[in-house]
Amino acid sequence: MNQPVRMPGLATRGAGIRVENVNLSYGPLHVLKDINLEVHPGEFFAFLGPSGCGKTTLLRLIAGFNQADTGRVLVSGEDISALPPWKRDVGMVFQSYALWPHMTVRRNVAFGLEERRLPRSEIAQRVSESLALVGLDQLSDRRPSQLSGGQQQRVALARTIAVRPKVLLLDEPLSNLDAKLRVQVRRELRELQQRLGITTIFVTHDQEEANTICDRIAVMNDGIVQQVGTPIELYQRPANLFVAGFLGTANILEGEISGFGCDKVFQAPGGVKIPVDSGADAAPGSKLAFRPQDASLHAKDESGAIPGAIVNREFLGSSIRYGVKIGGKEILVDIPFHSGSTLHEVGDAVAVKIAPSSVLWLAS
Ligand SMILES: Nc1ncnc2c1ncn2[C@@H]1O[C@H](COP(=O)(O)OP(=O)(O)O)[C@@H](O)[C@H]1O
Ligand SMILES: [Mg+2]
Repeated sequence: MNQPVRMPGLATRGAGIRVENVNLSYGPLHVLKDINLEVHPGEFFAFLGPSGCGKTTLLRLIAGFNQADTGRVLVSGEDISALPPWKRDVGMVFQSYALWPHMTVRRNVAFGLEERRLPRSEIAQRVSESLALVGLDQLSDRRPSQLSGGQQQRVALARTIAVRPKVLLLDEPLSNLDAKLRVQVRRELRELQQRLGITTIFVTHDQEEANTICDRIAVMNDGIVQQVGTPIELYQRPANLFVAGFLGTANILEGEISGFGCDKVFQAPGGVKIPVDSGADAAPGSKLAFRPQDASLHAKDESGAIPGAIVNREFLGSSIRYGVKIGGKEILVDIPFHSGSTLHEVGDAVAVKIAPSSVLWLAS
């Protein structure tokens, strides 16, 4: 990998984060359940999960705005659990940005530094440096209301970076931006993070966002870390049905394995039979899962394929997603689309094959 260009003043690489045995409840609501995590120095790490699963609560805990009932948080090996937010060297960008509306961009960025009573010259230098870094040096005399959503987001980022935290926490930083800007800004964020080398945790409920810019992801659901891994690891080897369904699309079938050796077959209600690898072994309660692109469509009398009928068709640009009813259940099959491709129509009788090596056995 290329060595990122270092920014001498702002570079703060090297801080790893550990979250150990953390539990947190709001009254009777148990929100964080025995969280254990390790974020490596300089890593761009994501907390990914559906709304309400505890991402913001965990981020606020690392920043010092929430107290855990059990467990601790370490930064660079030092237990910071007892420190207030302003003594933690942890910078958090809130989902709402929380900019001061009556202050100019420059004053917004300077504010935290003035609070810290830094010398005026140092403040001026850090403010220009941070604004240049996020590309806002030309707009420093404007107020937040005179900026676009993307520009406001960058002010919030500049304000946090100016304090030179060891760790940067971003709570759904792109959620207020429109779709096109979101794609552009997420790439800028990644570039900036690489240049600074700052350990960053990025909270999102959007799997594409996490997949495209983060080194590793902790998938959360219901206050529990389901799995930690690189985007590709999570996609190829999901630990359970939730991860398989949350990262990408997965077809899930319930049934039983029967037969032995190379005659091993998965059987689901409605006469569905899928050959599986001889090593396949279904743990009690587990289900068969496969990705839409790991299935293929064939003529309706193709031997060894499962007969079905097309019930839906969606054009996704580079592929066509067919809904195919087999054994009373609709599964999704993605077929690459090229100009001139022959399409199936809704109502067509077809047969589906699923590559045995792509089949996953997962429990919830
Ligand atoms: N201050 C609070 N008091 C009580 N419940 C809260 C508070 N903050 C969050 N919650 C609840 O905790 C759960 C997790 O919330 P949150 O961490 O904000 O989820 P996420 O950021 O993943 O959407 C939700 O059920 C939410 O309603
Ligand atoms: Mg949140």
